[in-house]
Amino acid sequence: MTQNKIIDLRSDTVTKPTKAMRKAIANAEVGDDMYGEDPTVLELEEEIANLLGKEKALFLPTGSMANQIAIKAQTQPGDDIFVGQNAHNWMFESGATGFISSVQITVLPGDGRYDANAVRTHYKPDNVNFAPTTLISIENTHNVSGGVTWDRKEVQKVLEAADELDLSKHLDGARLWNASTYYNVPLDELTKGFDTVSVCLSKGLGAPVGSLLAGNEQVMKKAYRLRRILGGSMRQAGIMAAGGLYAIRNHREKIQDDHENAQLLALGLNKIDGFSVDIIKTQTNMVILDITDPNVSTQQLVAEAKKEGLLFLSLSDKRIRLVTHLDVSREDCIRALDILSKISNKALVYS
Ligand SMILES: Cc1ncc(COP(=O)(O)O)c(C=O)c1O
Repeated sequence: MTQNKIIDLRSDTVTKPTKAMRKAIANAEVGDDMYGEDPTVLELEEEIANLLGKEKALFLPTGSMANQIAIKAQTQPGDDIFVGQNAHNWMFESGATGFISSVQITVLPGDGRYDANAVRTHYKPDNVNFAPTTLISIENTHNVSGGVTWDRKEVQKVLEAADELDLSKHLDGARLWNASTYYNVPLDELTKGFDTVSVCLSKGLGAPVGSLLAGNEQVMKKAYRLRRILGGSMRQAGIMAAGGLYAIRNHREKIQDDHENAQLLALGLNKIDGFSVDIIKTQTNMVILDITDPNVSTQQLVAEAKKEGLLFLSLSDKRIRLVTHLDVSREDCIRALDILSKISNKALVYS
C-alpha cells in the first residue's frame, strides 16, 4: 500500500488534518469573533501571544495578510522599507505591499538574510529626495533560501541598527517553529526586540488554516482595524482556531522529525551523480537541490518523478526544492531517494 502513496514534497502547506485534529475542530466551542465572543479564537490568541512574548495576538486567515497588516500598520504611504532577497512579503504576495501600503521596497543584499551594515548603508533619512526608511522585515526561517535560519547575533545587530535609526521591526515567522526547533530555544527568545511577529499554523504545524500577528496593544489595535478593512474579520472562526490550538499543543515536537528527514534527503541526494545539495544550508525542513549535470533539467525531473508518485517544486531550470512535513515519513524519504536515483540514471542515459 505504501508503494502507491503519493509523496508530496512540494511544500509543508500540503498537510491534511489528522483524525484527532478533525475531532478537535468538530468539538470546538465557537461564538461570533467579530463581537470578541469566540472562546476558541480567544484561547488561541492568548496562547500564541504568551508563546511569542507579546502583549496581544490576532487570528488571521493567512500569513500574507499578517505580513501586509504589519507593514500597513507601521508605515505611511511613500515610506521605504527593507526586506531580504526573495522575501515572501516582497516576491510572493502579489505586490500587496505596493497595492495596500504604497511603500517603496529596498531589497537588501544577501541570500535572504542581511546584516546590520546593509541596514545602515541603505537607510534613507527623511529628506526631500528620499522615501524615508521606516520599517525592516526579517524572514526567519527564510523560505526561498531553503529554510535557513538567521545568525542570532546578527539579528541582534540588525535590531540595534534599526533602533538607532528609529525603524519599526517586523519578523515574518511563518516558520518560526522550525527556527526555534533548530536553535533549541523558546519562541520568545527569537521575537525579542521585534515590534510585530507573524506566525503560520498551516505550515510545519499541519493545521489546515490560520496565521497570527502579534505585537503590543497599540500596534495590534491598528492591526484589528486593518483586518476588518481587508475583509479578514471572521465569525465562528473557532472552527479554524481549534485546528491551530491542536497543532501548537501536539505537533511542535514533530518538527524535529521533519528536520531529520530533510537531512536524510540532503545527504542521500548529494551522493547521486549530477546532483548537489548544500548540506550546511539544510538546517530545517527544506532541501534545495542543484542539478549539476548539463543534460538534466528540473522539468524532466519533475515530470518523471510525478509518474512515480513523487512531487516537488522546480525553482529554476537547475534548482528544485523538496520540503519535509507531518505527512512525510522517514520511509517516504528513503523511497523518494530511490525514485530520484533511478530517474537521474535514466535521464542521463536517454538525454
Ligand atoms: C515565509 C513566508 N511568509 C509568509 C507566507 C504566507 O503564508 P500564506 O500562504 O498563509 O499567505 C509564506 C507562505 O508560504 C511564507 O513561506
